[in-house]
Amino acid sequence: MTIYDELHSDHLKLIGLIDELLDMPDRGDEDYRTNLIRDIEVEVVLHVRAEEKLLFDSMRSQKNPAYMNLLQRALKQHREVEQMLYALREKNKQDEENSSAVWRSAAEDFRDALVHHISHEELKLIPVARKAFTARENIQMGTDFLELKNEMRVQGIPMLRYA
Ligand SMILES: [Fe+2]
Ligand SMILES: [Fe+2]
Repeated sequence: MTIYDELHSDHLKLIGLIDELLDMPDRGDEDYRTNLIRDIEVEVVLHVRAEEKLLFDSMRSQKNPAYMNLLQRALKQHREVEQMLYALREKNKQDEENSSAVWRSAAEDFRDALVHHISHEELKLIPVARKAFTARENIQMGTDFLELKNEMRVQGIPMLRYA
C-alpha cells in the first residue's frame, strides 16, 4: 500500500472515533468517554507525527516552492487540531468534576478542525504529493509510515504539542 492509502484509512478511522464520541449521551459513561478521548489523542498524535516526518519532510527536502504553501497550511492546521484536542481533554476533565456537559461543544470544534484539515490533505496536498515521488517511493513511505507508528506506540506516545 502507498502512504496515501495508509493516510486515507487513518483519516476515516479518526472521523469514526470522533463520531462515536459525538454519538454518546451528554452525561453518563464518564470512564468510557475519557478513554475514548485518550484513544483519539493517541491516534491523532501518531498519525500527525508520522505524516510530518515521512511525507511532509520528504516533500520539503525537494525544495519545490510550489509545495511550501501546501505544507505550511497543513502544519498550521496540525497545530489547530492539537490545540482543540487539548481543549477537549481539559473540558472533559471539568465535566467529570462538575457533571456539566461542556465537552460536547469542544468535541464539535475539534471535529470541524479535523474535517477541514483532512479535506486539505485529501483534496490539495495528496494529489500533489503523489506526483512528487516515484511509485516505488510512495509504497516505501507507506511501509515506513506503519513502522514508525508502531515504533512510537511501543516506545510511548509523544505528548500533544502546542497545548
Ligand atoms: Fe493526515
Ligand atoms: Fe495531517
